[in-house]
Amino acid sequence: MFTFAKMTIVLLIGFLWCVSFCSSDQRNYRPIIGVLAQEVYSPKPNQTAYIAASYVKFLESAGARVVPVMINQTLEEYKALFHSINGVSFDRILYPGGGVSIISSGYERAAKIFYELAIEANKRGDYFPVWGTCLGFEQLTYLTSEKTALTFTNTSGVSLPLNFSNEAKKSRMFKEFPAELMKDLASDPLTENSHKWSLSLLTYNTNEELKTFYKVLSTNTDGQTEFVSTVEAYDYPIYGTQWHPEKNAFEWTKPYIPHSPSAIRTTFYVAQFFVSEARKNFHRFESEEGERKALIYNHSPVYTGNNSGFEQIYFF
Ligand SMILES: *[C@@H]1O[C@H](CO)[C@@H](O)[C@H](O)[C@H]1NC(C)=O
Ligand SMILES: *[C@@H]1O[C@H](CO)[C@@H](O)[C@H](O)[C@H]1NC(C)=O
Ligand SMILES: *[C@@H]1O[C@H](CO)[C@@H](O)[C@H](O)[C@H]1NC(C)=O
Ligand SMILES: *[C@@H]1O[C@H](CO)[C@@H](O)[C@H](O)[C@H]1NC(C)=O
Ligand SMILES: *[C@@H]1O[C@H](CO)[C@@H](O)[C@H](O)[C@H]1NC(C)=O
Repeated sequence: MFTFAKMTIVLLIGFLWCVSFCSSDQRNYRPIIGVLAQEVYSPKPNQTAYIAASYVKFLESAGARVVPVMINQTLEEYKALFHSINGVSFDRILYPGGGVSIISSGYERAAKIFYELAIEANKRGDYFPVWGTCLGFEQLTYLTSEKTALTFTNTSGVSLPLNFSNEAKKSRMFKEFPAELMKDLASDPLTENSHKWSLSLLTYNTNEELKTFYKVLSTNTDGQTEFVSTVEAYDYPIYGTQWHPEKNAFEWTKPYIPHSPSAIRTTFYVAQFFVSEARKNFHRFESEEGERKALIYNHSPVYTGNNSGFEQIYFF
């Protein structure tokens, strides 16, 4: 009887401990992801920076909320925000007619600060994922290698199948993708590219920093130059795609954006992957009010599909 009672108490304590610490499977079910705003090419009053709404929808579709990361904030403001959010995304797109410099803009300053905070945090065991899309991916390679080592490619409006590396199937990013979708990604043009500059495979292979930091998951070619199209860092939850996973489901203005069922599934599986990474982080805002005020829900996207490559844009 005594042993039974003791065991019951042990189980009860274990149960109560678990209610407090493993109730959500040690995952954060309310992840918030920061998306970096970037400079508007021709600014107007109250329209100096923007975020394409498709990128916000992409993250929301997988169960995350979004906070815009404004440019030109102080280091202290960025640090406070970093400790309030569960991941950050550099989604950078060449704005029609322009695009900001990857080495001297307010966007670049913010990206560098968040990248460095993320590296430090991860080293301490504070799991903090970072995502880069398109120029955001190029930005990541620049932040890692401190070099602009890009090659001109003919890829400014084309969808391509991915040429997966041997490591792709076992990668963190792709291992949960259904086999059928992996097959389609490898054979059908499901990944939209709008970039003029690429990290060539040759540059990657001859750059020690990049080679030891990032694992190549896929490459592509414009017929001349083989370039790196998907990476994940070996030792950090840092990911990059030269292609746009968000466009398939949410952008309609360009004829080369694929919308087949497999293309749409690609959007959601990529989003699902990155948001699941953010669920491993437990940063939180100091107050509910602070959280409410920071969320992108305080802003309304504007319809821009009639004169830009984006259906909707958030302007700040
Ligand atoms: C800019 O935003 C402020 C505050 O939201 C508003 O009071 C002002 O009228 C806006 N200016 C223009 C030109 O839209
Ligand atoms: C950021 O600061 C720069 C330099 O002071 C300025 O030119 C730019 O308009 C600012 N951008 C935003 C979005 O505040
Ligand atoms: C660039 O690629 C497109 C197909 O995506 C092709 O039609 C065009 O001829 C190429 N241009 C050059 C200069 O190779
Ligand atoms: C796919 O990648 C491999 C390894 O880099 C390369 O040898 C091959 O030529 C590529 N295939 C295509 C179709 O680009
Ligand atoms: C696009 O639509 C917006 C909102 O309906 C309108 O204000 C703007 O003038 C339109 N632009 C063009 C180029 O048609």
